[in-house]
Amino acid sequence: MKQDTSRNPAREPDRTEDREVFLKLFQVKTATKADLSQMLHLERRCHCDPWTRENYLYELSREVTFFRGLYRRATLVGLTVSWIIPPECHLLNVMILPDLWGHGLGKTLMEDLVALCRSNSASQVLLEVRSDNFRAKKLYRGLGFKRDGLRLGYYGDGTDAVLMSLHLPVNPGAPLERTKRRPIGDSNSPRTV
Ligand SMILES: CC(C)(COP(=O)(O)OP(=O)(O)OC[C@H]1O[C@@H](n2cnc3c(N)ncnc32)[C@H](O)[C@@H]1OP(=O)(O)O)[C@@H](O)C(=O)NCCC(=O)NCCS
Repeated sequence: MKQDTSRNPAREPDRTEDREVFLKLFQVKTATKADLSQMLHLERRCHCDPWTRENYLYELSREVTFFRGLYRRATLVGLTVSWIIPPECHLLNVMILPDLWGHGLGKTLMEDLVALCRSNSASQVLLEVRSDNFRAKKLYRGLGFKRDGLRLGYYGDGTDAVLMSLHLPVNPGAPLERTKRRPIGDSNSPRTV
């Protein structure tokens, strides 16, 4: 992808030693309904089958759904959406603004998700990823995710889904459960990663 550096002063850490400085330009925090229009913009930039406004509003209304945003000042440049129902976390979506791909921001968001799981007594992260999504698969493998299987023709265009999971050591100091939760099966979410 051709990238316009003049429009994005926060990108391009050219040397490895600059990476830490670069990452400090960003902040990870809970994303809320106030960020909905930015979420939809990000979604449309990152996915060929984007979630709709209604999909987002539904997930934003659910107690089990966690939204963690990556911000450059007030601008949302990345997001994870996950269900956390201890002892499991199911990752529904992870995305980074395409102009910023390849600089460790996806890894930053995924590390935040792992920390969120630990503090909510989730000891396993589950996800599905398109078999042709090499960048995402590399990100997950780098974090220790293992391949559990394949769902043939899972996606609408016939692409297979690779099932992956990450097991987290139990944190004895963590609370047993954060809030009341509804069963995962009542969701009508249209897509998982
Ligand atoms: C998947 C995604 C979140 C990764 O974000 P990112 O910021 O580029 O991730 P990182 O920079 O942390 O890099 C992740 C890994 O991909 C590798 N990578 C970078 N460019 C790559 C490329 N062109 N091809 C394959 N792997 C690549 C990096 O080397 C890194 O691996 P490493 O840690 O072993 O070096 C981002 O590409 C994205 O938003 N994609 C669209 C949405 C999507 O497909 N989400 C996942 C399924 S829902």
